[in-house]
Formats: sequence, C-alpha cells, structure tokens
Amino acid sequence: MADLPGKESKAKYVQETFNSIAKNYDLMNTLMTFGLDKSWRRLAVKRSEQKEGGTGLDICCGTGMLTMEQARAAGRAGRITGLDFSENMIEVARQNAKDFEFKDSIHFIQGDAMSMPFENDVYDCATVGWGLRNVPDIFKVVREMVRVVKPGGKVISLDMAQPATPVFKELYWLCFNRMIPAMGKLFSGNKKAYKYLYSSAKVFVHQKELAAIFAKAGLVETRYLNLCGGVVAIVEGRKPIYNCCFNMADKN
Ligand SMILES: C[S@@+](CC[C@H](N)C(=O)[O-])C[C@H]1O[C@@H](n2cnc3c(N)ncnc32)[C@H](O)[C@@H]1O
Repeated sequence: MADLPGKESKAKYVQETFNSIAKNYDLMNTLMTFGLDKSWRRLAVKRSEQKEGGTGLDICCGTGMLTMEQARAAGRAGRITGLDFSENMIEVARQNAKDFEFKDSIHFIQGDAMSMPFENDVYDCATVGWGLRNVPDIFKVVREMVRVVKPGGKVISLDMAQPATPVFKELYWLCFNRMIPAMGKLFSGNKKAYKYLYSSAKVFVHQKELAAIFAKAGLVETRYLNLCGGVVAIVEGRKPIYNCCFNMADKN
C-alpha cells in the first residue's frame, strides 16, 4: 500500500508519525472509537490478570492510557512500566499521569519494543495496545514480551482486527478509509498520519494469525476475543510455568 513504509524504514517512519500527532492523539482516539477505547482497555487489563501489588509492563504505551489502566488494577503497591520510543507520546503520558491516583506506581521510559532493556521473568504480565501493528517485526516483539514476563504470566495485545461479516466488513473499511483521514486532518492537521492508520490496520495480520504467532513465540492458552464485530480484538496467551515450551535458544 502506498501509505506504508518498507520494513527497514518502518521504525523511523512510525516514530516520526507518532511524534507529530502526540498532542491530539487522545482526542482523536476518543472520537474514532466513540469513547469505547476506555472499556476495551479495561477489558484488556482484566484479561491480563493484573492484581493488587503486581508488576506490569505496557509496551508501545503511547500516551499511557493502558499503562494507567494496569496501574489502577495493581493499586498503590503495584509497579507498572510504560515503554515507548516516541519522546512526544511519552511526554503526553507523563502529563496525563500527573494527577492520576496511582501515579507513583507508574514509571515511563523511552525505549524500543524490539529490544527491551529488562531482565528475563520480571513482570506479572505484559500488555500492548494498538502497538504490534506498528513494529517492524511482530514475532520479535512478542518474543520480547514473553521473555520479560514471569512463568505463568499473561501477554495481551489489544489492536485493530479484521471483521468478518460480509457487508459490515466492506462498509467498515470504506468508512475507515474516508472518514478517519478526514478527521485526522480536521483535528490534528495531519491527514497522512491517519491514512497510515487505515493502511496499517488493513494489512495487519488476522487476529487468528496473531494468536498463532503468540503460540509460536512460546505462549500457551492462546486465544482471541473479537470486540465490536471484530473491528478490534484482544489476543492473549500465557507463559508456561515449566520451561518445556519456551527455549531461549530460539529467541532470534
Ligand atoms: C497507536 S499508538 C498506541 C498507544 C497506546 N498503547 C494506546 O493504548 O493508545 C502506538 C504507539 O506505539 C509506539 N511504537 C511503535 N513502534 C514502537 C517500538 N518499536 N518501540 C516502542 N514504541 C513503539 C508509537 O510510538 C506509539 O506511541
């Protein structure tokens, strides 16, 4: 697709794109999803099994909305890390969390999801919201998530998905292609970035395929849950407690 960068230049393109739309990202999200994004994030955190006093990682955290949702579940004794490579998105995340009840449980850092600066087996769970679509190598990032999660912990992705119902599916892609870039132009002055959003969603792997990538990356109990007719999906898996299915030698 014309609006998509090649694999080699993808990281730079994505970083620049999110740096350029950071300021209006949350407003656009609310408008595009009719405010449903909040409930989707809440459900994703519920599926992550994050609990009081838990440790958690949220990669591609952007403006920190899913990170804060995890922190809400972990409470004051929790320790949640949000990681993103866009300095402007991280800056907005810090602003968003400034008056948040559980702000002291959150730590935002700038870093690359393809190679995370964390030890093995340190987090109770790892989440990624609308992030895997944007990375150059989905499998590599999922492997990284698996690596840093403790045995028994959950790995969760919440992202755009591929609706299946005929007619609804065609209408959805038509509206997405026409309306979202126009709204992007109106509210963030950046039509190109929101054209990329459409193109990246259109070519993103089917949720069933993403669940298969989760399994290949070493997770068990993999499954997907369609939301809003498959417009969005939660894909999940659990790191096995016994090391039989997760061989670090396969890491690359
Ligand atoms: C669509 S936003 C999602 C933000 C947030 N998770 C949410 O729930 O709204 C995607 C984010 O992924 C980040 N991102 C993309 N590739 C990345 C990478 N390789 N490493 C770290 N962050 C990345 C972008 O900077 C952007 O902030």
